[in-house]
Amino acid sequence: MPDQAELRGLLADLMRAWVPPRSEPSALPDPASRGAKLLSTHCAQCHGLPDPKAYSGNEWPRVLDRMALRVTAIGSRRCQLLKLTVPTAEEHKTILDYLKRHAFEPLNAGPSVPLEGKGGLAFLTFCSQCHDLPHPRQHLVSEWPKVVDRMQDYAYFVGRRMITDAEKEAITEFLKSKGR
Ligand code: HEC
Ligand code: HEC
Repeated sequence: MPDQAELRGLLADLMRAWVPPRSEPSALPDPASRGAKLLSTHCAQCHGLPDPKAYSGNEWPRVLDRMALRVTAIGSRRCQLLKLTVPTAEEHKTILDYLKRHAFEPLNAGPSVPLEGKGGLAFLTFCSQCHDLPHPRQHLVSEWPKVVDRMQDYAYFVGRRMITDAEKEAITEFLKSKGR
């Protein structure tokens, strides 16, 4: 019987492209809440701890439904290699509420922002590849360049279309012009 902690570490490494390691349980928003605790217990069994800000609130229900399928698929195997704890329906809902509460703000939830110019267009095509388009107002102007750099790294890592330096600059300028 393999050591469970070792097996989980191995899976988390293997799954880095899907769930990039960002959060420690203590760094989660509202870490003492039941939602954060349930997320740490149930959602870091097959990969690293997911970040509530990885999606908008509109997207989380679909992702969680898919995770329920994954748990059923692996949990129904006879082999006892990976011991899974399975959330009850009530726990599933608590996790979903928690994720939605701390999700990022999608573009369509805030004041309308025209996607104009080179930057607006590049933002639309590049930044919608992995999640909803985010609203620019959720970051300070000074924070956006670092966020865009991080997203470019993910695109490289998971093999999505990347942006050129010129596109990157145009997107960053666009976000800064509409940021806080
Ligand atoms: C039984 C193993 C298993 C458990 C438990 C599990 N996941 Fe996953 N998760 C996966 C697999 C496999 C993938 C990659 C394939 C996919 O996205 O469906 C994944 C991918 C993800 C992704 C990336 C999806 C994407 O499209 O980028 C997120 C976010 C995620 N899981 C969140 C969660 C949350 C939240 C929970 C707890 C409710 C959870 N996972 C529990 C197996 C699991
Ligand atoms: C290759 C996939 C991918 C692409 C393309 C992508 N993102 Fe992300 N995004 C992620 C992942 C994974 C997370 C969650 C982990 C994190 O925040 O580091 C995330 C989270 C976010 C967040 C919430 C976290 C925060 O710091 O506020 C924002 C905002 C965001 N992305 C903006 C963007 C913008 C703007 C672009 C285009 C420049 C973009 N994303 C393109 C994968 C991507």
